[in-house]
Amino acid sequence: MPGIVVVGAQWGDEGKGKITDLLAERADAVVRFQGGNNAGHTIVRNGKTWKLHLIPSGILHPGKLCVIGNGVVVDPRILTDELEALKRRRVDTSSLRISANAHLIMPYHLMLDHAGEAKLGKLQIGTTRRGIGPCYADKAARLGIRVQDLLDEKILKQKIVAALEPKRLSLRPFAKDPALDLQAMTEEYLVFGHRLEPYIADTIRLVHDCLDSGRVVVFEGAQGALLDIDHGTYPFVTSSNPVAGAACIGAGVGPKDIDEVWGVTKAYGTRVGAGPFPTEVDGAFAEMLRERGGEYGTTTGRPRRIGWLDLVALRYAARINSLTALCVTKLDVLSGLERLQVCTRYRGTEGAEFDYFPYHQTVLHHATGEYVELPGWSEDLSECRSESDLPDAARDYLKFVAEFVGVPISLIGVGPGGEQVIWTEAGAHMAPTVV
Ligand code: IMP
Repeated sequence: MPGIVVVGAQWGDEGKGKITDLLAERADAVVRFQGGNNAGHTIVRNGKTWKLHLIPSGILHPGKLCVIGNGVVVDPRILTDELEALKRRRVDTSSLRISANAHLIMPYHLMLDHAGEAKLGKLQIGTTRRGIGPCYADKAARLGIRVQDLLDEKILKQKIVAALEPKRLSLRPFAKDPALDLQAMTEEYLVFGHRLEPYIADTIRLVHDCLDSGRVVVFEGAQGALLDIDHGTYPFVTSSNPVAGAACIGAGVGPKDIDEVWGVTKAYGTRVGAGPFPTEVDGAFAEMLRERGGEYGTTTGRPRRIGWLDLVALRYAARINSLTALCVTKLDVLSGLERLQVCTRYRGTEGAEFDYFPYHQTVLHHATGEYVELPGWSEDLSECRSESDLPDAARDYLKFVAEFVGVPISLIGVGPGGEQVIWTEAGAHMAPTVV
């Protein structure tokens, strides 16, 4: 079982960092394959909290190969800051490798992200404003600047000039910003290159070596299936593919290298940014769940929108990712609710009903959830460590989810701590040997 992909099965923020961190115990390598520092992972380990945006969570396990793959967009300022912060806390970062082919987020990408959102006004996507979209756009336009370019001053400068040329008009409002000065930008990025050089590598070969010798590689996704640029709620999506298939592209492996795909979902739903969210709830109930679940963005601090668990969307996510297992996180947050709702169908305008995820934007914008009501439980779950410790109603809730989606549950989260999990039979082969 050497290749295992971990992806978000909702709109991101499902708790993938914690799951990857747990799987990393048994893995030899952890590879990030898409996204950038729009992602944010909070990991609680041995009472210490870690917030990572770019570096794979495997870094907290000494000696594991940690890879930032070619599919990731790298803001070198954030990466160097993150490395410094880890070093300050005495984390050994020597096993990090950054793909020489990963694309760089440049100062003008941040400006364009801000400007693009401002221009959209009420129609804005609610991006994290980290320059992710403009960076991927340059990649597709073949105007991108890659990590390897940091090591060659002449090429770096040439490529910055070429990339800036078609953006002149949109960057006009920032013309006086010193960050846009060609010489200053080149010099700043050369310094980043100097600092990152020991980590830059042909990561694809490193991953191949691991897989070919039967070692376990965890491919760590960012964001979630419904933010996928092809399969999500376009245009309210991110600019990469957070689905499992993208692990192949963003890490440089083939589909046959993937043996398992674990999809992570919260026991309820959240979304940050704009766009359709058919099971959204508001008012005091949303407020209460937001507080209990600490539902504020790791990256932007924005309050997350709250909703019931959407099984129509989850079944769709299971299919487009070929999920082999589901990890259900934050089950403890639902304790104390008398009745729980799960969405099993959408209702559209004029009474239309959908038991699949509608492809049409207008339909999706008008879709509201139809629910099955399930009994809640009052017990605190934070000390549960096996399925038998769970109250019957919690077990029934999970059974309903797994059966509806048609994917077994491998792991259940009952609190923020790494030890606050329940490994089921379907996940036991990946349970850490030492917790
Ligand atoms: P971008 O990825 O910054 O371009 O933002 C596009 C959309 O994806 C916005 O709705 C963001 O809120 C959302 N998004 C991006 N990254 C994450 C994440 O890691 N978690 C949750 N939402 C995200």
